[in-house]
Parts: sequence; structure tokens; C-alpha cells
Amino acid sequence: MHKLAAGNWKMNGTPSALAEVAALLAAHPAPGCQMLLCPPATLLAQMAWAARGTPLLLGAQDCHAKASGAHTGDISAMMLEEAGASHVIVGHSERRSDHAETDAAVNAKAAAAARAGLIAIVCIGETEAERNAGATLDVIGRQLDGSLPEGATAANIVVAYEPVWAIGTGRTPTLAEIAEVHGFIRTRLSGQIGAEAAGVRLLYGGSVKPSNAAEIFALPHVDGALVGGASLKAADFGAIVAALSAA
Ligand code: PGA
Repeated sequence: MHKLAAGNWKMNGTPSALAEVAALLAAHPAPGCQMLLCPPATLLAQMAWAARGTPLLLGAQDCHAKASGAHTGDISAMMLEEAGASHVIVGHSERRSDHAETDAAVNAKAAAAARAGLIAIVCIGETEAERNAGATLDVIGRQLDGSLPEGATAANIVVAYEPVWAIGTGRTPTLAEIAEVHGFIRTRLSGQIGAEAAGVRLLYGGSVKPSNAAEIFALPHVDGALVGGASLKAADFGAIVAALSAA
């Protein structure tokens, strides 16, 4: 199984940000460790061109469930694949809240990604109120059941556990809490897809930075990270890639 350090630039980055990508190319992930950036769709083709022949993989932040048609403003998984993406994030909590995406919608997008030959990074995570109510594992279980498409395999799906309250806040769950949820996800996946579950990469996301990456990567069932803010600076993301390479 390849470990994965994935950067999510969200709605940040203009062509001048390509300098960060050039700097990132100096980072060399260890064999068995992958480095992925998900820029805004406007930068995808340019970045894919800049990264050709290097270990940097490119991904998108969302896709439409249909292959083509009358869907103004949307982008299909096939289009992203043609622009140079190998991965696409689906069901990020910001999509779920900003665009009212349901588990069923996320499921359809992940299935579309697989049809286009993309690896879908399916995001799940509880809100602070849900955690305080002791409902974290219920929420995670329900989101996994609903969001994982038919035919999910270790080759076409990555699962990212991102507690909503940890995203962009500088707060993280305790290491024990991360380990508990990741262990739960692995077991739940086994119930859904059997032996394939052992090979599905499970990423932690939410305020991952150079200073906490190593301790998070040392946890069982943590196979990498989905990184927002700290992926915008090559020095920080490079340090996270180095921590994953060393784990
Ligand atoms: P953050 O975002 O690293 O800035 O907390 C993570 C994410 O939303 O994927």
C-alpha cells in the first residue's frame, strides 16, 4: 500500500502559485509514499504540465456525477482526468455544508470518479456538536455506509477522516481519538468490502502541520494525510511529505 500525502488548496492559488509547485518538486517522497496536490480546477492542467516526469500527482477538489451535459459551472470526472488529474476529493465537509451535498450525492460522485479512472478521496467527519454528543462513531459509520460507492476497492477509493471542527482551526483530536476512529473505519470497511478493506488508504485531515505530522503518521491505520492550509507553502507541505516518508 502506498502512503499518501494529499494537499487541498481549496479556493486558493493563482498562476503565481506555480512557484510553490516548483519548490515542492524538490521534495522527494520515499518509495512507497505518494505526494498529491489538489489545486483549483483552473490550475490543474498547468500544474500537471509542470509536474510531468516528477513524482507529484495532481487531483481535483470535486466532480459532477454525470459524464457530460447541461450542468452549468460543473466539471465531470472525465474532464478532470483529461486535464491531468489522477485523484479527486469528494464529499469534503465544505462541499457538504456549502452545497448541501448528501451521502448519496457523494456516493454518485465517487462512482463517477471510478468510471473515469480517477481515485476518489471520500471525506467523512463529525461536527463538534456530534462529537460532544458522543455520536462520532455513529456519524462516521453512517457517512461511510452512504458515501462509499458500489464496486469500491483499495485501488479506486481513499477514505479521509476529517473532523469538521479540526479543519482550519489549529485544533486536532487527541492521538487516541484519531486512532479510535481510524480503527473503527477499517473495521467498518471490512464489513462493507471484505478483504479489500485492508488495502484502502485511510487519511487523517484537519490542522495537520509539520509539528504534528510525525505523531499522527505513527498511529495504526493512518496511511497519510489530507492537508489544507499547510499544503499552500512548499516548505510546510514538503516537511509533511518528509514526515510521512520517515513513518
Ligand atoms: P486544514 O484543512 O489542514 O487547513 O485544517 C484540511 C482539509 O480541509 O482538508
